[in-house]
Amino acid sequence: MSNENPNFLTPNSRPAPQTLGEFLIDNQSDFPFASGELTRLLNSIRLAAKVVNHNVNQAGLVDITGAAQNINVQGEEQMKLDVFADVTFINTLTNREIVCGIASEENEDFIVVSGSDGGHKQHYVVLIDPLDGSSNIDINAPVGTIFSIYRRITPQGTPCKIEDFLQPGNMQVAAGYVLYGTSTIMVFTTGNGVNGFTLNPALGTYYLSHPNMRFPEKGNIYSINEGKYATFPQGVKDYLKYCQKEEGDRPYTSRYIGALAADFHRSLIKGGIFLYPQTSKAPTGKLRLLYECNPIAMLAEQAGGKASDGEQRIMEVKPTELHQRVPFFCGNAKMVEDVEGFIAKTKKVKAKA
Ligand code: AHG
Ligand code: MN
Ligand code: MN
Repeated sequence: MSNENPNFLTPNSRPAPQTLGEFLIDNQSDFPFASGELTRLLNSIRLAAKVVNHNVNQAGLVDITGAAQNINVQGEEQMKLDVFADVTFINTLTNREIVCGIASEENEDFIVVSGSDGGHKQHYVVLIDPLDGSSNIDINAPVGTIFSIYRRITPQGTPCKIEDFLQPGNMQVAAGYVLYGTSTIMVFTTGNGVNGFTLNPALGTYYLSHPNMRFPEKGNIYSINEGKYATFPQGVKDYLKYCQKEEGDRPYTSRYIGALAADFHRSLIKGGIFLYPQTSKAPTGKLRLLYECNPIAMLAEQAGGKASDGEQRIMEVKPTELHQRVPFFCGNAKMVEDVEGFIAKTKKVKAKA
């Protein structure tokens, strides 16, 4: 029987999209050491990311809205966005007493969070690149936030120590990024695959838009700052020539945004490889192991890809210092294996000579 009453609501055949909040509650028992603490921590990150997102969106207005809006209530000058993002994440996490320590790319040393009772009860430490690709701000191109979460190894109830932060990437319990692009998306893993949540800015709610993200079977995009070609190791130069050769499914396409979070996001969705090798000026590479490479490596592996320093798995590199840099090759498994192959070949030739 058809219903002719216009006020009669028929259920929409499409299921309602799941919000990030619902997802976290529904999957709480899958999280390692489920105590609600990791859920609260991810909640704090999504909240801080909304504040940063709002400011990133205002960036183009800062110069034309004049000094009045440029000065905050304390009469201080407007902060640069990377400093603003850093302060926002640190304040959000410390005010909620959710972690026992934070290390940020923006700060020389890590921060010890003590809790209002002075008890150092929290189980987790966070490492963060608060604004990745910050030079893109000036040109209205995407930027990101990259984060990495570990369970502390020092005893609960004591202040966290450097060893809580210097853990290899394979000890991460969660990792992710927020990409402030044409839309804002938070992509993260807790070790059970990778999921992406797009922010509806009108409602301030993130919705599950990219469930169970996986690299496509094959990739055909390579992403590197090719201006530095002359300073790359021979194995990387050989791989680039291979990418450009007209043969089979090659030449590959070249794309470079200059923000790891954005370049990785494209590789994950379209299939490809991101490369930041050592150069003669930066003999250990440019990217930071703890704030950039480890979290992106965990996401890559969880999505069926690989991440390497050219010779070994990134997540097995034992960190020795907070701001350590490493060469970084990450993306479709086959593409990462190919570049490792070219690097190994030049090593063998050198060893023979
Ligand atoms: P950050 O803005 O956090 O310093 O990071 C920028 C990084 C990374 O996101 C990007 O892939 C790389 O630097 C770009 O470096 P080049 O300008 O040397 O290509
Ligand atoms: Mn960065
Ligand atoms: Mn940064």
